[in-house]
Amino acid sequence: MSSTLSDDFERRFHHTAQGHERTWVFISVVMIAVLFIAAVYLVVHDYGVVAKTARIYSDPNTPATLADFQGDGIKQTGPDSYSVYEMGRIWSWTPGTGKAVTLPVGSHVTFYVTSGDVLHGFEIQGTSINLTAIPGVIGHVSYTFDKPGTYYIICNEYCGAGHQAMIGKIVITGSKKA
Ligand code: CUA
Repeated sequence: MSSTLSDDFERRFHHTAQGHERTWVFISVVMIAVLFIAAVYLVVHDYGVVAKTARIYSDPNTPATLADFQGDGIKQTGPDSYSVYEMGRIWSWTPGTGKAVTLPVGSHVTFYVTSGDVLHGFEIQGTSINLTAIPGVIGHVSYTFDKPGTYYIICNEYCGAGHQAMIGKIVITGSKKA
């Protein structure tokens, strides 16, 4: 008789435990799903899948022939505004690597960024600038340099053996305006 009671207890215990386990497995899966979706959403929301603002041009294989990316890549567009045309290649930023981009403090700069080969990550340290350089796509982003100093352009997307040395320089000269 006692074994029947025990079996009955076991069965009910097992039934209850299984209910709890199912509930908690369900909750864990939901939590992981919510965290994953939130992380993807926030990253995409903050940084964009590619670049937030991008224009597609037709020939991804010959981006260097685009007229704007010829020459020194720096154009003055107003009293304090400039356009800078950045071409990423393994493993340099043009302009920026070798010869620094030098601009006066207070410059409002629009960067047009593309790649001549593979994907690169265009990031200027100490600023909010961070977009992907993609062959066939020109991304653009604007920034006002209010503080003088040296800003480093780094590549934040792995692009081969010289990735960590893919560094450019922006030098902002002068003293801060009152
Ligand atoms: Cu270019 Cu990493």
